[in-house]
Amino acid sequence: MAVERAGTDRRWVDEAVRRVEADANRSADTHLHVLPMPAGWGIDVYLKDESVHPTGSLKHRLARSLFLHALVSGQIGPHTTVVEASSGSTAVSEAYFAQLIGVPFVAVLPRSTSPEKIALIERYGGRCHPVEHGAEMSAEAELAEPTIYSEAELAEPTIYSEAERLAAECGGHYLDQFTYAERATDWRGNNNIAESIVAQLAQERYPVPEWIVVGAGTGGTSATIGRYLRYRRMPTRLAVVDPENSAFLPGWASGAADFATGLPGRIEGIGRPRMEPSFVPGVIDLMLPVPDAASIAAVRHLHERTGRFAGGSTGTNLWGVYHLVARMLADGVRGSVVTLICDGGERYRHSYYDDDWVAAQGLDLTPHTERIERFLATGEF
Ligand SMILES: Cc1ncc(COP(=O)(O)O)c(C=O)c1O
Repeated sequence: MAVERAGTDRRWVDEAVRRVEADANRSADTHLHVLPMPAGWGIDVYLKDESVHPTGSLKHRLARSLFLHALVSGQIGPHTTVVEASSGSTAVSEAYFAQLIGVPFVAVLPRSTSPEKIALIERYGGRCHPVEHGAEMSAEAELAEPTIYSEAELAEPTIYSEAERLAAECGGHYLDQFTYAERATDWRGNNNIAESIVAQLAQERYPVPEWIVVGAGTGGTSATIGRYLRYRRMPTRLAVVDPENSAFLPGWASGAADFATGLPGRIEGIGRPRMEPSFVPGVIDLMLPVPDAASIAAVRHLHERTGRFAGGSTGTNLWGVYHLVARMLADGVRGSVVTLICDGGERYRHSYYDDDWVAAQGLDLTPHTERIERFLATGEF
């Protein structure tokens, strides 16, 4: 006997998909800005400005892909509560799309998430559900860096398990960006971030970049760019920068797919306490550790030098760019390098752009700022 599902949802899904696609159709692509380098170097640096998306970060693309992926997979219907585990940016963008299609949204996030981001999630009608800390710790990391967690802390749920529990409890759907980011995004094109960058470089003097430099939170952006470059058979190499306490670089370098530090990060959006399912090590050509003070110094320097106001992960990207440009100069290589402005600085007025916050973190930005100045004067980094 055939079993047929009631058809009502299909009309609702059709309308929801139409609204998400219409949002994309109303949105212009993000800009590719030139970051001036000394003329004689023969190296051009570009900033892909993802802060101009309607929800203010690169996560607007991912949130759109995750909602479409779940809608066409029959996982979201008219009465589905959508739940996500996020350090903030993704939840802001997902709250926007949940509001667009008319379903409730709950963000499970670390208690340390910036008040600005919580306000943005709530502005789009989302509800915030804070948890104490991020994730478990692997054996290796425990050996490398023993951290004394109290029983209570270890018993506390992680953002992942709490999001899963909440979705199950209310019969909702856990979007799970950390698992689906690399699957939901079309790496062949469909205006993914890599295709957009390559198209916008077409009339530049070095249209095929030497390097593209990004950070990793879910790993979805680096996976999409790395796959696209290989799919298009481009010689461009992918460099991924990693902040303090993150598991990505040690996991990538050691090949330990389950590496976990269990330690929280300071640069919002990038670096993770554990290797994430959407982090694809095989597409990465180089990884670079970046001190948190260097990330903050670099993004403040960008603001002073160009007026562009960006978040901490953009500073981490820039530090990687300066390192690679210095290397190209030393090797006599001319060409272009591209990185991202991931989100706007207004979200970090109370942290990265606040001297008291920086001091309270025990961070000294001066030596890093001086190193950037010296680099721009000498080409050595
Ligand atoms: C501000 C910011 N920068 C960079 C990233 C990293 O992007 P991805 O998750 O695609 O690795 C994120 C991710 O959340 C982010 O919020």
